[in-house]
Amino acid sequence: MKKNFFLFMTLSLFVLTPYFTPLAHAVESTVPPKANWSFKGIFGVFKRDQLQRGFQVYKEACAICHGLDLLRYDKLMALGFTMDEIKAIAGEHDIPGPLDEEGEPTLIKATPADAFASPYPNDNAARAANNGSLPPDLSLMTKARVHGADYLRGILIGYEQAPDDFGLMDGMYYNPYFSGQQIAMPPPLVDNQVEYADGTKATVHQMSEDVTAFLAWAAEPELETRRNLGVKVMIFLSFFTILMYCLMRRTWRKIKGVKPKL
Ligand code: HEC
Repeated sequence: MKKNFFLFMTLSLFVLTPYFTPLAHAVESTVPPKANWSFKGIFGVFKRDQLQRGFQVYKEACAICHGLDLLRYDKLMALGFTMDEIKAIAGEHDIPGPLDEEGEPTLIKATPADAFASPYPNDNAARAANNGSLPPDLSLMTKARVHGADYLRGILIGYEQAPDDFGLMDGMYYNPYFSGQQIAMPPPLVDNQVEYADGTKATVHQMSEDVTAFLAWAAEPELETRRNLGVKVMIFLSFFTILMYCLMRRTWRKIKGVKPKL
């Protein structure tokens, strides 16, 4: 009897708890739709042309607000840029240099060995320029959020008219995939915002997918090398296992009448 009562109380707790926390559920974000990423799975690879387009979108549409603090300019060689092109890209940005003779801060041109320059000198300046909201660094964004690349793409394609009964705050935009379903970032992409060199049509969907692929690569530029090594190690280990098995059979055959215990 006592046991049943205890069971009843535990079950009630499970069933009733959600009803006592309605506020937490009212503004949950929607799960973003899944895209077919070329880089998913153990044989996944990044497509160079997509990464180049994505870099162009980042440079032209995101870099004025979002930094990529963990990516060095020279990593762009993997996208097919030459060192001279990379020098030119880095040289467009000023970064803090050493103090001058009077102890005043200076600015110097970034070099290929530097990380992508931040658009703002510090977080306070970034907030001041964005209505009090901080545009986060995007270096690890695809790894930092639960739905990774799908989340990032979801945010970019997710802007909609807010439902009538939705309490949209001043200066915010309705976006079901962002936590709280409203975001301080104005829609950053419109159709034909960039002109792709390879003739691809620059729709919001296309640009969102390209820039997301670029940011997924930026979060893990060594992904392909690591996977290649992983596959090679697996192949080696399989051969090694077969070799060892044959060797064991041979050794045991020599010991007459004794069967291997395998
Ligand atoms: C005018 C400045 C501005 C531009 C341009 C801009 N963003 Fe943002 N972005 C913001 C701000 C501000 C936030 C923070 C929003 C908030 O906290 O409500 C943000 C948030 C985000 C988030 C959500 C981050 C999180 O914490 O989950 C993503 C993803 C993002 N931006 C990606 C991009 C991409 C990709 C581009 C380029 C296509 C871009 N942004 C262009 C200002 C900008």
